[in-house]
Amino acid sequence: MNEHDSERISGLLEADGMVPAVSEEEADVIVLNTCCIRENADNRLYGALGNLKTLKSEKPELQIAVGGCLAQKDRELIQERAKHVDVVFGTHNVQNAVTLLKKAKTDGPVIEILEEIVEGDYEAFPSALPVRREVDHRAWMTIQIGCDNTCTYCIVPSVRGPEISRPFGQLLEEAKDFALQGVTEITLLGQNVNSYGRDLTKNLKHNDPSDFDIHQAGLAWADNQNRRVKPLFADLLKSVGSLEGIERVRFISPHPKDLTSEIVEAMSASESVCEHLHLPLQSGSDSILSAMHRGYTGERFLEKAREARKGIEDLSLTTDIIVGFPGETENDFTDTLEVVAEAAFDSAYTFIFSQRPGTAAAEMTSEFVDHDIAVKRYETLRKVVNRSALLKHKDRIGRIEEVLVEGKSKKGTDFVTARTRQNKVIHLETNESLKPGTFAQVEVKDATYNYLVGELREIIATPKHRKRIPVMAE
Ligand code: 5AD
Ligand code: SF4
Repeated sequence: MNEHDSERISGLLEADGMVPAVSEEEADVIVLNTCCIRENADNRLYGALGNLKTLKSEKPELQIAVGGCLAQKDRELIQERAKHVDVVFGTHNVQNAVTLLKKAKTDGPVIEILEEIVEGDYEAFPSALPVRREVDHRAWMTIQIGCDNTCTYCIVPSVRGPEISRPFGQLLEEAKDFALQGVTEITLLGQNVNSYGRDLTKNLKHNDPSDFDIHQAGLAWADNQNRRVKPLFADLLKSVGSLEGIERVRFISPHPKDLTSEIVEAMSASESVCEHLHLPLQSGSDSILSAMHRGYTGERFLEKAREARKGIEDLSLTTDIIVGFPGETENDFTDTLEVVAEAAFDSAYTFIFSQRPGTAAAEMTSEFVDHDIAVKRYETLRKVVNRSALLKHKDRIGRIEEVLVEGKSKKGTDFVTARTRQNKVIHLETNESLKPGTFAQVEVKDATYNYLVGELREIIATPKHRKRIPVMAE
Protein backbone atom coordinates (compact mmCIF):
# COMPACT_ATOMS: atom_id res chain seq x y z
CA MET A 1 0.00 0.00 0.00
CA ASN A 2 2.78 2.39 0.90
CA GLU A 3 4.81 1.56 -2.18
CA HIS A 4 1.76 2.31 -4.24
CA ASP A 5 1.24 5.62 -2.40
CA SER A 6 4.86 6.45 -3.25
CA GLU A 7 4.13 5.84 -6.91
CA ARG A 8 1.19 8.21 -6.69
CA ILE A 9 3.30 10.90 -5.06
CA SER A 10 5.94 10.55 -7.81
CA GLY A 11 3.13 10.64 -10.37
CA LEU A 12 1.73 13.87 -8.93
CA LEU A 13 5.13 15.53 -8.86
CA GLU A 14 5.82 14.48 -12.45
CA ALA A 15 2.42 15.67 -13.60
CA ASP A 16 3.43 19.04 -12.17
CA GLY A 17 6.51 19.10 -14.36
CA MET A 18 9.19 17.64 -12.09
CA VAL A 19 11.63 14.94 -13.15
CA PRO A 20 13.19 12.23 -10.98
CA ALA A 21 16.53 13.25 -9.43
CA VAL A 22 19.45 10.88 -9.63
CA SER A 23 20.56 11.52 -6.06
CA GLU A 24 19.39 13.23 -2.87
CA GLU A 25 22.06 15.90 -3.37
CA GLU A 26 20.57 16.90 -6.72
CA ALA A 27 16.93 16.89 -5.62
CA ASP A 28 14.85 20.06 -5.19
CA VAL A 29 12.15 18.11 -3.38
CA ILE A 30 12.49 15.05 -1.17
CA VAL A 31 9.35 13.28 -0.01
CA LEU A 32 9.61 10.66 2.72
CA ASN A 33 6.62 8.37 2.57
CA THR A 34 6.32 6.64 5.90
CA CYS A 35 4.84 3.52 7.44
CA CYS A 36 4.12 3.14 11.14
CA ILE A 37 3.03 -0.48 11.30
CA ARG A 38 6.08 -1.41 13.38
CA GLU A 39 8.29 0.69 15.60
CA ASN A 40 11.50 0.47 13.60
CA ALA A 41 9.79 2.43 10.82
CA ASP A 42 9.38 5.29 13.33
CA ASN A 43 13.04 5.19 14.19
CA ARG A 44 14.06 5.13 10.57
CA LEU A 45 12.11 8.30 9.77
CA TYR A 46 13.77 10.40 12.44
CA GLY A 47 17.18 8.95 11.52
CA ALA A 48 16.62 9.82 7.85
CA LEU A 49 15.43 13.33 8.74
CA GLY A 50 18.55 13.81 10.86
CA ASN A 51 20.70 12.95 7.86
CA LEU A 52 18.83 15.41 5.64
CA LYS A 53 19.45 18.31 8.03
CA THR A 54 22.95 18.98 6.72
CA LEU A 55 21.74 18.83 3.14
CA LYS A 56 19.03 21.36 3.87
CA SER A 57 21.42 23.73 5.62
CA GLU A 58 23.73 23.62 2.58
CA LYS A 59 20.84 24.07 0.17
CA PRO A 60 18.03 26.05 1.86
CA GLU A 61 15.75 25.96 -1.22
CA LEU A 62 15.48 22.16 -0.87
CA GLN A 63 11.96 21.18 0.20
CA ILE A 64 11.42 18.20 2.48
CA ALA A 65 7.97 16.64 2.87
CA VAL A 66 6.83 13.78 5.09
CA GLY A 67 3.68 11.82 4.25
CA GLY A 68 2.05 8.49 5.04
CA CYS A 69 0.87 6.66 8.14
CA LEU A 70 3.56 7.92 10.47
CA ALA A 71 2.76 11.51 9.52
CA GLN A 72 -0.91 10.75 10.19
CA LYS A 73 0.10 9.47 13.63
CA ASP A 74 2.84 11.93 14.69
CA ARG A 75 1.43 15.10 13.13
CA GLU A 76 2.95 18.24 14.75
CA LEU A 77 5.58 16.12 16.45
CA ILE A 78 7.45 15.73 13.15
CA GLN A 79 8.09 19.44 12.69
CA GLU A 80 8.76 19.80 16.43
CA ARG A 81 11.48 17.15 16.22
CA ALA A 82 12.75 18.15 12.76
CA LYS A 83 12.30 21.88 12.15
CA HIS A 84 13.71 21.59 8.62
CA VAL A 85 10.63 19.69 7.39
CA ASP A 86 8.56 21.91 5.06
CA VAL A 87 5.40 19.84 4.61
CA VAL A 88 3.60 17.14 6.60
CA PHE A 89 0.61 15.41 5.03
CA GLY A 90 -1.37 12.33 6.06
CA THR A 91 -2.91 9.31 4.40
CA HIS A 92 -6.20 10.96 3.39
CA ASN A 93 -4.82 13.90 1.42
CA VAL A 94 -1.96 12.58 -0.72
CA GLN A 95 -3.63 14.34 -3.66
CA ASN A 96 -2.75 17.71 -2.05
CA ALA A 97 1.01 17.04 -1.85
CA VAL A 98 1.95 19.36 -4.71
CA THR A 99 -0.30 22.22 -3.53
CA LEU A 100 1.12 21.92 -0.03
CA LEU A 101 4.69 22.08 -1.35
CA LYS A 102 3.83 25.27 -3.26
CA LYS A 103 2.13 26.76 -0.22
CA ALA A 104 5.17 26.02 1.93
CA LYS A 105 7.39 27.88 -0.57
CA THR A 106 5.54 31.12 0.07
CA ASP A 107 4.08 30.71 3.57
CA GLY A 108 6.67 28.57 5.37
CA PRO A 109 6.21 25.10 6.94
CA VAL A 110 2.73 23.56 6.59
CA ILE A 111 0.97 20.60 8.09
CA GLU A 112 -2.29 19.16 6.77
CA ILE A 113 -3.75 16.01 8.25
CA LEU A 114 -7.37 15.02 7.57
CA GLU A 115 -9.24 12.71 9.93
CA GLU A 116 -10.86 10.85 7.06
CA ILE A 117 -11.35 11.13 3.34
CA VAL A 118 -14.08 13.45 2.15
CA GLU A 119 -17.05 11.23 1.23
CA GLY A 120 -17.22 10.37 -2.46
CA ASP A 121 -13.81 11.93 -3.05
CA TYR A 122 -12.34 9.15 -5.12
CA GLU A 123 -9.25 11.26 -5.77
CA ALA A 124 -8.28 10.31 -2.25
CA PHE A 125 -7.84 6.74 -3.47
CA PRO A 126 -4.37 5.91 -4.65
CA SER A 127 -5.39 4.68 -8.07
CA ALA A 128 -7.41 7.74 -8.99
CA LEU A 129 -4.27 9.84 -9.32
CA PRO A 130 -1.51 10.00 -11.89
CA VAL A 131 0.90 7.23 -11.14
CA ARG A 132 4.54 6.96 -12.05
CA ARG A 133 4.76 3.20 -12.12
CA GLU A 134 8.15 1.77 -11.29
CA VAL A 135 7.55 -0.98 -13.85
CA ASP A 136 5.46 -0.54 -16.97
CA HIS A 137 3.99 -4.01 -17.33
CA ARG A 138 2.63 -4.20 -13.79
CA ALA A 139 0.09 -2.04 -12.02
CA TRP A 140 -1.42 -1.82 -8.58
CA MET A 141 -5.05 -0.99 -8.10
CA THR A 142 -6.36 0.08 -4.72
CA ILE A 143 -9.82 -1.42 -4.51
CA GLN A 144 -10.48 -0.41 -0.92
CA ILE A 145 -8.89 1.77 1.73
CA GLY A 146 -9.03 1.51 5.51
CA CYS A 147 -9.96 -1.44 7.69
CA ASP A 148 -13.01 -2.30 9.82
CA ASN A 149 -11.28 -5.03 11.79
CA THR A 150 -9.96 -4.56 15.27
CA CYS A 151 -6.80 -6.68 15.47
CA THR A 152 -5.47 -5.59 18.83
CA TYR A 153 -1.83 -5.20 17.74
CA CYS A 154 -2.59 -3.17 14.64
CA ILE A 155 -2.36 0.58 14.11
CA VAL A 156 -3.81 0.52 10.58
CA PRO A 157 -7.48 1.22 11.44
CA SER A 158 -6.49 4.33 13.40
CA VAL A 159 -4.27 5.78 10.66
CA ARG A 160 -6.11 4.58 7.56
CA GLY A 161 -9.70 4.93 8.82
CA PRO A 162 -12.75 2.74 8.15
CA GLU A 163 -13.13 0.49 5.12
CA ILE A 164 -14.29 2.24 1.95
CA SER A 165 -14.51 0.43 -1.38
CA ARG A 166 -14.15 2.01 -4.80
CA PRO A 167 -17.09 1.50 -7.17
CA PHE A 168 -16.94 -1.73 -9.17
CA GLY A 169 -17.48 0.03 -12.52
CA GLN A 170 -14.68 2.49 -11.86
CA LEU A 171 -12.25 -0.34 -11.10
CA LEU A 172 -13.17 -2.18 -14.28
CA GLU A 173 -12.66 0.95 -16.35
CA GLU A 174 -9.29 1.47 -14.77
CA ALA A 175 -8.27 -2.13 -15.34
CA LYS A 176 -9.35 -1.86 -19.00
CA ASP A 177 -7.24 1.29 -19.35
CA PHE A 178 -4.27 -0.54 -17.90
CA ALA A 179 -4.77 -3.34 -20.41
CA LEU A 180 -4.85 -0.80 -23.26
CA GLN A 181 -1.56 0.62 -22.01
CA GLY A 182 -0.04 -2.86 -22.27
CA VAL A 183 -0.12 -3.71 -18.57
CA THR A 184 -0.29 -7.49 -18.23
CA GLU A 185 -0.27 -7.92 -14.43
CA ILE A 186 -2.61 -6.21 -11.97
CA THR A 187 -2.40 -6.48 -8.19
CA LEU A 188 -5.58 -5.61 -6.30
CA LEU A 189 -4.76 -3.87 -3.04
CA GLY A 190 -6.66 -3.48 0.20
CA GLN A 191 -6.22 -4.09 3.93
CA ASN A 192 -8.88 -6.75 3.81
CA VAL A 193 -9.55 -7.34 0.11
CA ASN A 194 -12.09 -10.10 0.55
CA SER A 195 -14.56 -7.80 2.23
CA TYR A 196 -14.36 -5.49 -0.81
CA GLY A 197 -17.77 -4.13 -1.78
CA ARG A 198 -19.74 -4.98 1.35
CA ASP A 199 -20.00 -1.26 2.13
CA LEU A 200 -21.06 -0.51 -1.46
CA THR A 201 -23.96 -2.97 -1.48
CA LYS A 202 -25.21 -1.62 1.86
CA ASN A 203 -26.15 1.68 0.27
CA LEU A 204 -27.91 0.38 -2.84
CA LYS A 205 -31.48 -0.30 -3.88
CA HIS A 206 -32.14 -3.97 -3.56
CA ASN A 207 -35.34 -4.30 -5.59
CA ASP A 208 -34.91 -2.33 -8.79
CA PRO A 209 -31.22 -1.78 -9.63
CA SER A 210 -30.41 1.37 -11.58
CA ASP A 211 -27.36 2.14 -13.76
CA PHE A 212 -25.87 3.75 -10.69
CA ASP A 213 -26.27 0.51 -8.73
CA ILE A 214 -24.62 -1.44 -11.56
CA HIS A 215 -21.73 1.02 -11.61
CA GLN A 216 -21.35 0.67 -7.85
CA ALA A 217 -21.72 -3.09 -7.46
CA GLY A 218 -21.23 -4.64 -10.90
CA LEU A 219 -23.51 -6.55 -13.26
CA ALA A 220 -23.29 -9.89 -11.47
CA TRP A 221 -24.68 -8.38 -8.26
CA ALA A 222 -27.39 -6.44 -10.09
CA ASP A 223 -28.41 -9.49 -12.20
CA ASN A 224 -28.82 -11.67 -9.15
CA GLN A 225 -32.39 -12.01 -7.86
CA ASN A 226 -31.11 -12.03 -4.33
CA ARG A 227 -29.44 -8.63 -4.13
CA ARG A 228 -28.20 -8.75 -0.60
CA VAL A 229 -25.50 -6.90 1.28
CA LYS A 230 -22.39 -8.90 0.44
CA PRO A 231 -18.73 -8.60 -0.46
CA LEU A 232 -18.06 -8.38 -4.18
CA PHE A 233 -14.48 -9.60 -4.24
CA ALA A 234 -15.20 -12.85 -6.06
CA ASP A 235 -17.12 -10.93 -8.77
CA LEU A 236 -14.26 -8.47 -9.09
CA LEU A 237 -11.67 -11.21 -9.44
CA LYS A 238 -13.67 -12.83 -12.21
CA SER A 239 -14.28 -9.55 -14.05
CA VAL A 240 -10.70 -8.27 -13.89
CA GLY A 241 -9.46 -11.78 -14.62
CA SER A 242 -11.47 -11.99 -17.83
CA LEU A 243 -10.15 -8.77 -19.37
CA GLU A 244 -8.35 -9.17 -22.66
CA GLY A 245 -4.63 -8.55 -22.22
CA ILE A 246 -4.53 -9.02 -18.45
CA GLU A 247 -2.56 -12.23 -18.02
CA ARG A 248 -1.98 -12.16 -14.28
CA VAL A 249 -4.15 -10.96 -11.42
CA ARG A 250 -2.84 -10.92 -7.86
CA PHE A 251 -4.26 -9.52 -4.63
CA ILE A 252 -3.11 -8.63 -1.11
CA SER A 253 -4.24 -9.21 1.55
CA PRO A 254 -7.25 -11.34 2.32
CA HIS A 255 -8.35 -12.06 5.88
CA PRO A 256 -8.69 -15.79 6.72
CA LYS A 257 -12.03 -15.27 8.48
CA ASP A 258 -13.52 -13.82 5.27
CA LEU A 259 -12.05 -16.35 2.84
CA THR A 260 -15.20 -17.87 1.34
CA SER A 261 -15.60 -20.80 -1.03
CA GLU A 262 -16.91 -18.29 -3.57
CA ILE A 263 -13.47 -16.65 -3.62
CA VAL A 264 -11.68 -19.99 -3.92
CA GLU A 265 -13.97 -20.86 -6.84
CA ALA A 266 -13.36 -17.49 -8.51
CA MET A 267 -9.61 -17.99 -8.16
CA SER A 268 -9.74 -21.40 -9.71
CA ALA A 269 -12.24 -20.45 -12.45
CA SER A 270 -10.27 -17.46 -13.67
CA GLU A 271 -7.17 -18.45 -15.59
CA SER A 272 -5.43 -15.14 -15.08
CA VAL A 273 -5.79 -15.15 -11.30
CA CYS A 274 -2.42 -16.46 -10.14
CA GLU A 275 -2.02 -19.59 -8.03
CA HIS A 276 -0.87 -17.70 -4.97
CA LEU A 277 -2.70 -16.94 -1.76
CA HIS A 278 -1.17 -14.74 0.93
CA LEU A 279 -3.20 -15.62 4.00
CA PRO A 280 -1.95 -13.97 7.21
CA LEU A 281 -2.00 -16.45 10.11
CA GLN A 282 -0.45 -14.16 12.78
CA SER A 283 -0.43 -16.91 15.44
CA GLY A 284 -1.30 -20.60 15.73
CA SER A 285 -2.42 -20.41 19.38
CA ASP A 286 -6.17 -20.17 19.89
CA SER A 287 -5.88 -18.02 23.00
CA ILE A 288 -3.45 -15.60 21.34
CA LEU A 289 -5.62 -15.48 18.20
CA SER A 290 -8.54 -14.61 20.42
CA ALA A 291 -6.54 -11.93 22.25
CA MET A 292 -5.53 -10.59 18.82
CA HIS A 293 -9.25 -10.45 17.77
CA ARG A 294 -8.56 -12.46 14.65
CA GLY A 295 -11.87 -14.31 14.50
CA TYR A 296 -10.53 -17.84 13.80
CA THR A 297 -8.68 -20.65 15.54
CA GLY A 298 -5.55 -22.46 14.38
CA GLU A 299 -7.65 -25.41 13.20
CA ARG A 300 -10.07 -23.14 11.32
CA PHE A 301 -7.12 -21.53 9.55
CA LEU A 302 -5.82 -24.94 8.53
CA GLU A 303 -9.27 -25.89 7.22
CA LYS A 304 -9.34 -22.73 5.09
CA ALA A 305 -5.84 -23.52 3.80
CA ARG A 306 -6.86 -27.10 2.94
CA GLU A 307 -10.00 -25.89 1.19
CA ALA A 308 -7.98 -23.39 -0.87
CA ARG A 309 -5.37 -25.98 -1.82
CA LYS A 310 -8.07 -28.45 -2.79
CA GLY A 311 -9.93 -25.91 -4.91
CA ILE A 312 -6.96 -24.27 -6.63
CA GLU A 313 -4.52 -26.51 -8.42
CA ASP A 314 -0.83 -25.94 -7.67
CA LEU A 315 -1.51 -23.21 -5.10
CA SER A 316 1.32 -21.47 -3.31
CA LEU A 317 0.44 -20.37 0.22
CA THR A 318 2.28 -17.61 2.09
CA THR A 319 1.60 -15.84 5.34
CA ASP A 320 2.45 -13.24 8.02
CA ILE A 321 3.25 -14.30 11.59
CA ILE A 322 3.89 -12.30 14.75
CA VAL A 323 5.85 -13.74 17.68
CA GLY A 324 5.95 -12.33 21.20
CA PHE A 325 2.40 -10.98 21.31
CA PRO A 326 1.64 -9.99 24.95
CA GLY A 327 0.90 -13.07 27.04
CA GLU A 328 2.39 -15.55 24.52
CA THR A 329 3.68 -18.55 26.49
CA GLU A 330 6.02 -21.32 25.34
CA ASN A 331 2.92 -23.47 24.79
CA ASP A 332 1.29 -20.80 22.65
CA PHE A 333 4.47 -20.54 20.61
CA THR A 334 4.60 -24.33 20.19
CA ASP A 335 1.02 -24.18 18.87
CA THR A 336 2.18 -21.63 16.31
CA LEU A 337 5.06 -23.87 15.25
CA GLU A 338 2.66 -26.80 14.87
CA VAL A 339 0.19 -24.88 12.71
CA VAL A 340 3.06 -23.45 10.64
CA ALA A 341 4.54 -26.90 10.10
CA GLU A 342 1.17 -28.33 9.14
CA ALA A 343 0.29 -25.46 6.82
CA ALA A 344 3.65 -25.97 5.04
CA PHE A 345 3.89 -22.41 3.79
CA ASP A 346 5.84 -21.52 0.66
CA SER A 347 7.21 -18.52 2.53
CA ALA A 348 6.30 -16.19 5.38
CA TYR A 349 6.90 -12.67 6.58
CA THR A 350 7.72 -12.96 10.25
CA PHE A 351 7.70 -10.19 12.84
CA ILE A 352 8.43 -9.62 16.49
CA PHE A 353 5.48 -7.93 18.22
CA SER A 354 5.91 -4.17 18.20
CA GLN A 355 4.04 -1.95 20.63
CA ARG A 356 2.00 0.55 18.61
CA PRO A 357 0.54 3.58 20.36
CA GLY A 358 -3.23 3.62 20.72
CA THR A 359 -3.69 -0.11 20.07
CA ALA A 360 -5.28 -2.41 22.68
CA ALA A 361 -2.20 -4.63 22.81
CA ALA A 362 0.01 -1.65 23.65
CA GLU A 363 -1.83 -1.48 27.01
CA MET A 364 -1.07 -5.10 27.93
CA THR A 365 2.31 -4.09 29.35
CA SER A 366 2.19 -6.50 32.30
CA GLU A 367 2.06 -9.39 29.81
CA PHE A 368 4.84 -8.20 27.49
CA VAL A 369 7.20 -10.95 26.40
CA ASP A 370 10.88 -10.45 27.19
CA HIS A 371 12.66 -9.24 24.05
CA ASP A 372 15.37 -11.93 24.17
CA ILE A 373 12.71 -14.65 24.38
CA ALA A 374 10.85 -13.11 21.43
CA VAL A 375 14.09 -13.03 19.40
CA LYS A 376 14.72 -16.73 20.18
CA ARG A 377 11.18 -17.63 19.14
CA TYR A 378 11.57 -15.59 16.00
CA GLU A 379 14.72 -17.51 15.06
CA THR A 380 13.07 -20.89 15.74
CA LEU A 381 10.06 -19.87 13.67
CA ARG A 382 12.30 -18.82 10.78
CA LYS A 383 13.86 -22.28 10.76
CA VAL A 384 10.46 -23.98 10.54
CA VAL A 385 9.28 -21.60 7.82
CA ASN A 386 12.48 -21.92 5.80
CA ARG A 387 12.32 -25.71 6.02
CA SER A 388 8.90 -25.89 4.38
CA ALA A 389 9.84 -23.13 1.91
CA LEU A 390 12.91 -25.09 0.82
CA LEU A 391 10.87 -28.27 0.36
CA LYS A 392 8.22 -26.41 -1.65
CA HIS A 393 10.88 -24.80 -3.81
CA LYS A 394 12.87 -28.01 -4.36
CA ASP A 395 9.63 -29.58 -5.50
CA ARG A 396 9.62 -27.15 -8.44
CA ILE A 397 12.95 -28.46 -9.80
CA GLY A 398 12.49 -30.04 -13.25
CA ARG A 399 9.18 -28.27 -13.89
CA ILE A 400 8.56 -25.93 -16.79
CA GLU A 401 7.06 -22.71 -15.48
CA GLU A 402 5.66 -19.57 -17.06
CA VAL A 403 7.59 -16.55 -15.81
CA LEU A 404 7.28 -12.80 -16.21
CA VAL A 405 10.62 -11.01 -16.49
CA GLU A 406 11.23 -8.17 -14.02
CA GLY A 407 14.75 -7.00 -14.85
CA LYS A 408 18.39 -7.39 -13.92
CA SER A 409 19.34 -10.11 -11.49
CA LYS A 410 21.65 -9.73 -8.51
CA LYS A 411 23.14 -13.07 -9.52
CA GLY A 412 25.16 -11.58 -12.39
CA THR A 413 25.02 -10.44 -16.00
CA ASP A 414 24.09 -13.88 -17.38
CA PHE A 415 20.88 -13.76 -15.35
CA VAL A 416 17.59 -11.87 -15.31
CA THR A 417 15.05 -11.91 -12.48
CA ALA A 418 11.52 -13.03 -13.14
CA ARG A 419 8.47 -14.21 -11.21
CA THR A 420 6.53 -17.41 -11.53
CA ARG A 421 2.74 -17.43 -11.34
CA GLN A 422 3.13 -18.60 -7.75
CA ASN A 423 4.96 -15.31 -7.09
CA LYS A 424 8.32 -16.93 -6.56
CA VAL A 425 11.45 -15.06 -7.56
CA ILE A 426 13.38 -16.96 -10.22
CA HIS A 427 16.84 -16.07 -11.46
CA LEU A 428 16.95 -17.03 -15.06
CA GLU A 429 20.13 -17.96 -16.85
CA THR A 430 20.12 -16.63 -20.39
CA ASN A 431 22.39 -14.85 -22.80
CA GLU A 432 19.44 -13.20 -24.53
CA SER A 433 18.56 -9.72 -23.34
CA LEU A 434 15.04 -10.22 -22.06
CA LYS A 435 13.17 -6.97 -21.46
CA PRO A 436 11.02 -6.49 -18.33
CA GLY A 437 7.51 -7.61 -19.18
CA THR A 438 8.59 -10.58 -21.31
CA PHE A 439 6.73 -13.85 -20.73
CA ALA A 440 8.83 -16.99 -21.04
CA GLN A 441 8.82 -20.71 -20.34
CA VAL A 442 11.69 -21.78 -18.13
CA GLU A 443 12.89 -24.99 -16.63
CA VAL A 444 13.53 -24.83 -12.90
CA LYS A 445 17.04 -26.10 -12.23
CA ASP A 446 17.75 -25.25 -8.62
CA ALA A 447 16.10 -23.86 -5.51
CA THR A 448 16.84 -22.23 -2.17
CA TYR A 449 14.30 -21.34 0.48
CA ASN A 450 13.76 -17.87 -1.01
CA TYR A 451 14.35 -18.15 -4.75
CA LEU A 452 14.50 -20.50 -7.71
CA VAL A 453 17.08 -20.74 -10.49
CA GLY A 454 16.00 -21.61 -14.00
CA GLU A 455 17.00 -21.89 -17.63
CA LEU A 456 15.19 -20.24 -20.52
CA ARG A 457 13.28 -22.68 -22.72
CA GLU A 458 11.12 -20.41 -24.86
CA ILE A 459 9.98 -16.79 -25.10
CA ILE A 460 6.18 -16.72 -25.13
CA ALA A 461 5.48 -13.00 -25.52
CA THR A 462 7.47 -9.79 -25.62
CA PRO A 463 6.35 -6.69 -23.65
CA LYS A 464 3.37 -4.82 -25.03
CA HIS A 465 3.56 -1.68 -22.94
CA ARG A 466 4.32 1.64 -24.54
CA LYS A 467 6.79 3.96 -22.85
CA ARG A 468 4.62 6.50 -21.08
CA ILE A 469 5.20 10.18 -21.70
CA PRO A 470 4.65 12.20 -18.50
CA VAL A 471 1.50 14.33 -18.63
CA MET A 472 2.07 17.96 -17.71
CA ALA A 473 -0.59 19.68 -15.63
CA GLU A 474 0.07 23.14 -17.04
N1 5AD B 1 3.80 -5.83 15.61
C1 5AD B 1 4.37 -6.74 14.79
N2 5AD B 1 3.87 -7.03 13.58
C2 5AD B 1 2.78 -6.36 13.16
N3 5AD B 1 2.07 -6.43 12.03
C3 5AD B 1 1.06 -5.55 12.11
N4 5AD B 1 1.10 -4.90 13.28
C4 5AD B 1 2.15 -5.39 13.97
C5 5AD B 1 2.71 -5.13 15.24
N5 5AD B 1 2.17 -4.24 16.07
C6 5AD B 1 2.36 -7.37 10.95
C7 5AD B 1 1.20 -8.36 10.74
C8 5AD B 1 0.60 -7.87 9.44
C9 5AD B 1 1.81 -7.33 8.73
C10 5AD B 1 1.52 -6.40 7.59
O1 5AD B 1 2.52 -6.64 9.73
O2 5AD B 1 1.72 -9.64 10.61
O3 5AD B 1 -0.04 -8.90 8.73
FE1 SF4 C 1 -4.60 -4.50 10.76
FE2 SF4 C 1 -6.17 -6.61 11.22
FE3 SF4 C 1 -6.99 -4.64 9.57
FE4 SF4 C 1 -5.00 -6.29 8.78
S1 SF4 C 1 -7.15 -6.89 9.21
S2 SF4 C 1 -5.06 -4.03 8.62
S3 SF4 C 1 -3.96 -6.67 10.73
S4 SF4 C 1 -6.64 -4.45 11.77
